[in-house]
Amino acid sequence: MTEADATTRRIGLSLGADLCWPAAYEALMERLKLDLPVGTAQVRFDVERVQVEPFDLRYKPRYDLVIDRLTHWFPTTREWIKKIALMDDVYVLNNPWAIQSMEKHTTYCAMMRLGMPIPETWMLPPKEYPKPGDDLMTRDIEVTVKRYNKLFDLAKVGEAVGYPAFIKPYDGGGWVGVKQVKDAGALHKAYDESGQRVQHLQAGVKDWDLFIRAIGIGPQVNIIRYDPDSPLHDRYKVDFNYLDAEAWQRAVRIGRVINAFFNWDFNSCEMLRSDGVLFPIDFANACPDSQVTSLHFHFPWVVKSLLRWSIFCAATQKRPKLNLDWRPFFDISDRDDLSFDEKLVLYDDIAKERFHADEFDAFCKRHLSHLDAVAYDYFGSDAFYKVVTAKVAALFPAHEVKRFSDHFYGLVQFWRKTEADRLGLKAEVAP
Ligand SMILES: Nc1ncnc2c1ncn2[C@@H]1O[C@H](COP(=O)(O)OP(=O)(O)O)[C@@H](O)[C@H]1O
Ligand SMILES: [Mg+2]
Repeated sequence: MTEADATTRRIGLSLGADLCWPAAYEALMERLKLDLPVGTAQVRFDVERVQVEPFDLRYKPRYDLVIDRLTHWFPTTREWIKKIALMDDVYVLNNPWAIQSMEKHTTYCAMMRLGMPIPETWMLPPKEYPKPGDDLMTRDIEVTVKRYNKLFDLAKVGEAVGYPAFIKPYDGGGWVGVKQVKDAGALHKAYDESGQRVQHLQAGVKDWDLFIRAIGIGPQVNIIRYDPDSPLHDRYKVDFNYLDAEAWQRAVRIGRVINAFFNWDFNSCEMLRSDGVLFPIDFANACPDSQVTSLHFHFPWVVKSLLRWSIFCAATQKRPKLNLDWRPFFDISDRDDLSFDEKLVLYDDIAKERFHADEFDAFCKRHLSHLDAVAYDYFGSDAFYKVVTAKVAALFPAHEVKRFSDHFYGLVQFWRKTEADRLGLKAEVAP
């Protein structure tokens, strides 16, 4: 191998308040000491935190891949991400156009068309509109509302949807403005209080006995039991065997299909199980919670999966998927000779192909087989304990820092115990 064949792939981390996963990601990348033969090149990796600064639209970025966590709420970064994906073929997690334009509403419509059991959902015009002012837009809105907004009977919509139901913003997130209503009176009250946002009224999934989140990173999907009623630090559960193998696979497929459909390499999908059926209810979450203070036991999975997927895409120089291509999914969903389960398998074939699943598996086996052992060591280290403490200190009052650092670190040590069993390692007793 000549010096000219050596090449460095640069991975950018575009971050906001994230502390813990980037620190773990960087530490593991360092410990992996990658120097991979890929094609004719010998590939190394460099990780850098992206700075926000003015940029010439024609400048050449230094990155081969960017893991971005800002697109949702930080327009300068979102537009930078668009530029580097569109002009320079930088692979970005996630597709910024899909994040910006696909609200919950579009995801419901799309997944209904694919035949997923999305609960009955209606859209409601907003209760209020901006007061007409001097500007053309508010004057036009007033005219439109007076001329064309048809008076409607909210109680009838409530009857059509059925109770209990959830009224929630059509483009919502973070539980803001979500209300459960049990009868027409409560629906009227909730609607009257809903302000200027367009709303959905959605049938509640009745008597659900399981709430799961499917976190997807490229073709990798992990299912985690979730309890929305627990305090924030205890919502992701450490639990096993709550789904049989078939249901687990169905949940994995649903998550992967949604992510491939919207070009989201990193997303989380919420599903409720009722009467044995998994109902997806919220799956436009393309900036999933990745903090050790929420994920604890599951945190190493996220970091390892991000590493695998980003290293693979950067090493093999995958080009960003710029455009959405839905027709192949609809060609399957429009067929009436297939059951939903049969369609799901075919959708998932498309998803795996779009996420290069087979090539990815082979790449990980060939180049990243030491990741398990390296991660096992790192997550038991003092360096990782310090990372946990730094995150906890950013969120918890000073007198709770030690207790919660030990708590989250302890759950990761429990993960290491299960990992040692899985890998056939000799586990040392956690401190
Ligand atoms: N159709 C539904 N059936 C049962 N629970 C629901 C339904 N819709 C929402 N919820 C409850 O409300 C929470 C927030 O709603 P969700 O659609 O996830 O909004 P957000 O995007 O704000 O998280 C859910 O996590 C769930 O607990
Ligand atoms: Mg939600």
